[in-house]
Amino acid sequence: MAVTITIANEKGGVGKTTTAVNLAAGLAIRLSSQPGPASRILLVDMDPQGHALLATGYGQHNAPPAESLSALLTETPPPSVQRILRHSVQYPNLFFIPGNRTAMVDASRVMPTLMANESRLSRAIAPVLSQFAFVIIDTPPTMGDLLINALVATSHVLIPVETSYLGVSGLRELQNTIEQVRMHFRPEIKILGYLPTLCDEQRSETQEILEELQKRYPGSVLPPIHKSTDLAYAHSSHTDVFTYRPPRQRQPNQLASSSRATQEYAQLVEAVLAGTR
Ligand SMILES: Nc1ncnc2c1ncn2[C@@H]1O[C@H](COP(=O)(O)OP(=O)(O)OP(=O)(O)O)[C@@H](O)[C@H]1O
Ligand SMILES: [Mg+2]
Repeated sequence: MAVTITIANEKGGVGKTTTAVNLAAGLAIRLSSQPGPASRILLVDMDPQGHALLATGYGQHNAPPAESLSALLTETPPPSVQRILRHSVQYPNLFFIPGNRTAMVDASRVMPTLMANESRLSRAIAPVLSQFAFVIIDTPPTMGDLLINALVATSHVLIPVETSYLGVSGLRELQNTIEQVRMHFRPEIKILGYLPTLCDEQRSETQEILEELQKRYPGSVLPPIHKSTDLAYAHSSHTDVFTYRPPRQRQPNQLASSSRATQEYAQLVEAVLAGTR
């Protein structure tokens, strides 16, 4: 049965999508030699902006509304996930559900009026969970049905936190929402960790902020991801950092290259494997 990981933070621009894309790609490389479902990763992009799909499924990311994620969320009965799934060009074991921006914006508007509006994603992907090792869900930077559906469908939450004073202090609303989802739907949801992102060693307060995070969430702070132009360039090249900065000769399962960003996201992949076993 797949481990489901939702990447969430209600604050915008903190590295949710970068983390979703690189975690999904990293797991796909790392698990590529496993047999069948143990090698397969599914990326679900709950953000109508669709930026995660741009990196994971560029060229294939868009579908007509009836064959997109929005139909899974709003149609009764929903279309079969199996039928609409696609796989990434780089990694044959990395799959995604194509999107449709307009239909997804419409879906977020009508969902509050639909029955069982919090558990529609969960129900829609249930039939395919046995075919994947991991499902990675990216979320929009807003509270609402799209984020709640992601949480109700998930076993684990990974929270990227921008390494700034504001970043550390702004998580209360998300924690409230997770608590409510636990109470009403999924008591077993685990916080996989807090991931410091956009970490800048040049700034004097960085160390202090990392220590503050450790103090607030002892034992739950993951090794930080530093600012890196490789991550920004990979994103604007519509790909992940492991494809953008590959090792000279990739050994099976090898993720890290000379690029620090690949080393740091490789470390996250190992932490996720260790934290979900
Ligand atoms: N470690 C990093 N180093 C440099 N640039 C980064 C890093 N992480 C993310 N970025 C860049 O910062 C911007 C915001 O990142 P990203 O899209 O991952 O954040 P987000 O939380 O998903 O944003 P939103 O809330 O809008 O969905 C992007 O342009 C991305 O390329
Ligand atoms: Mg995003």
